[in-house]
Amino acid sequence: MTDSAPQFTKENSGNLDQTLRPQTWDEYVGQAKTKENLRILLTAARERGHAAEHILLYGPPGLGKTTLAHLISKTLGTNMRTTSGPAIERVGDLAAILTNLSPGDVLFIDEIHRLSKSIEEVLYPAMESGVLDIIIGKGPSARTVQLELPPFTLVSATTRISLLSAPLRSRFSGGTFRLEFYSDDEIAEILNRSSSLLEVNINNKLLMDIAKRCRATPRTANYLLKRCRDLAQIEKGELNEDIVERTFGLLEIDTLGLGSPDRAVLDVIINKFNGGPVGLNTIAAATGEEQSTIEDVIEPYLIRQGLLERTPRGRVASPDAYSHIDNS
Ligand SMILES: Nc1ncnc2c1ncn2[C@@H]1O[C@H](COP(=O)(O)OP(=O)(O)OP(=O)(O)O)[C@@H](O)[C@H]1O
Ligand SMILES: [Mg+2]
Repeated sequence: MTDSAPQFTKENSGNLDQTLRPQTWDEYVGQAKTKENLRILLTAARERGHAAEHILLYGPPGLGKTTLAHLISKTLGTNMRTTSGPAIERVGDLAAILTNLSPGDVLFIDEIHRLSKSIEEVLYPAMESGVLDIIIGKGPSARTVQLELPPFTLVSATTRISLLSAPLRSRFSGGTFRLEFYSDDEIAEILNRSSSLLEVNINNKLLMDIAKRCRATPRTANYLLKRCRDLAQIEKGELNEDIVERTFGLLEIDTLGLGSPDRAVLDVIINKFNGGPVGLNTIAAATGEEQSTIEDVIEPYLIRQGLLERTPRGRVASPDAYSHIDNS
């Protein structure tokens, strides 16, 4: 073969979220309580020969919700159909998906908080009684036809549980599970597996260094590992401490794992608003970030680190946030 442009295949294409995604419960590190509860729920349903009850997964991005949905359907031994809140625009879209399921299938709806009210109302009876109420015609001659659906398990994921209506939440009869941030040891274990899948040579101390800077999030940890590998590769050297530190520097990731958007939020609260309390919309305007990004992505980790507090009057920076921002 001659030296030509690289051939991109599914295996070598950049999308490693797929490649690194755990395929078994053993590979899925952490979240012990959720795993145990799901194991009981799924095993019992499978033994009874019934579709498992509906499951809601929530928590910040990159903690493993989609991965869990895949494992759930694998455990049930059924197919999984995947869609998302924003993709279901009309009642007809949902009807088409539901009527095409095979008995026992898992329907995964990602970003379920973005379903419209009218779609939610069609979903209720489907979740509760396994029927679809379809209105045929318009005006006085309109009538409702009830369609029997194959038994199915709805698995849903959201980063914003507070946006789900109470009636929708209450219909996840199998349970609602909150995914937690990961400990450094758990992340190091995830990175250990990722490094062998990526065929990267890296020692445990450096895996721990990355673990401490990934905002306790597996997706970010894998991302950082890949960026370190990139730098080592183009410099044709090994992945050593110097490479790791320089990668953090290039990506502007500080000692607590905060990136520039995280620091910008703290900086605004501390230096423009005297430490707070300050409203979310004001922070969004001052930093140029979307409110939803601040709420879903930035704040949960700042709160976990004790750098930020949510109070009824707005966001407040903690003393630790002052010393961190002063020193960075
Ligand atoms: N518990 C875990 N063990 C090992 N790897 C994990 C775990 N959770 C997540 N990952 C890794 O992180 C990646 C991102 O996880 P996933 O896509 O499931 O997150 P998510 O919660 O669905 O995020 P989003 O809210 O952005 O959709 C996975 O591809 C996987 O490589
Ligand atoms: Mg996901």
